[in-house]
Amino acid sequence: MDAAAWNARYETAGFVWSTEPNQFLATEVSGLAVGHALDLACGEGRNAVWLATRGWDVTGVDFSEVGLTKAVGLAEASGVAERTRWVCADVTTWEPDGRFDLVVVMYLHLVAPQRSAAMGVAAQSLATGGTLLVVGHDATNLAEGVGGPPDPSVLYGPDDIIGDLAGESDLMVERAERVRRPVSVDTPEGPQERQAIDCLVRVRRG
Ligand SMILES: C[S@@+](CC[C@H](N)C(=O)[O-])C[C@H]1O[C@@H](n2cnc3c(N)ncnc32)[C@H](O)[C@@H]1O
Repeated sequence: MDAAAWNARYETAGFVWSTEPNQFLATEVSGLAVGHALDLACGEGRNAVWLATRGWDVTGVDFSEVGLTKAVGLAEASGVAERTRWVCADVTTWEPDGRFDLVVVMYLHLVAPQRSAAMGVAAQSLATGGTLLVVGHDATNLAEGVGGPPDPSVLYGPDDIIGDLAGESDLMVERAERVRRPVSVDTPEGPQERQAIDCLVRVRRG
């Protein structure tokens, strides 16, 4: 999907991805000292704003102006506007304007060459000692899980992300695995819990 398609998707009264952070974000960053964080492909800002409420100074980058406008509103409503900065840019080509203690990339699904480019931008953005967290719909989610894009060419697994980062120096892999995320699904019998399968990779720059 290009920026125009994402803008159209975000032209809704409510938040497409809710205003709640991804569940893995809280657990994966809980032990980190707060500092400067970067949310690449931040969408409507749910994860960036949550980080700001925890004391991080956050830069969110996305190519959807409509998504970013909603992110600005969410930051203001959450009382953290002064700790957030929003940049409208393509994350496959954006040139980082600083180094960040935490870089998160959540549910960014691109074909492999573009995904590799985005991972390169993520790695370049990482300060020494910084943590990069990548979470997305795992390739196995299509057949064994629930939700997520139906196009297998934009899905990935832990090995794909590790491969994208292979050319980067001083990166240590702390986690690279598939994780399950409970989701509520509407069925003829009413809402039922199902398990989505996500890919989670966390690396640290030494
Ligand atoms: C599924 S949404 C996830 C949003 C957010 N990370 C979250 O978890 O709520 C994917 C986001 O990636 C953004 N995106 C896709 N391709 C992009 C690109 N090349 N440059 C910048 N943003 C992009 C879209 O605009 C969209 O906001």
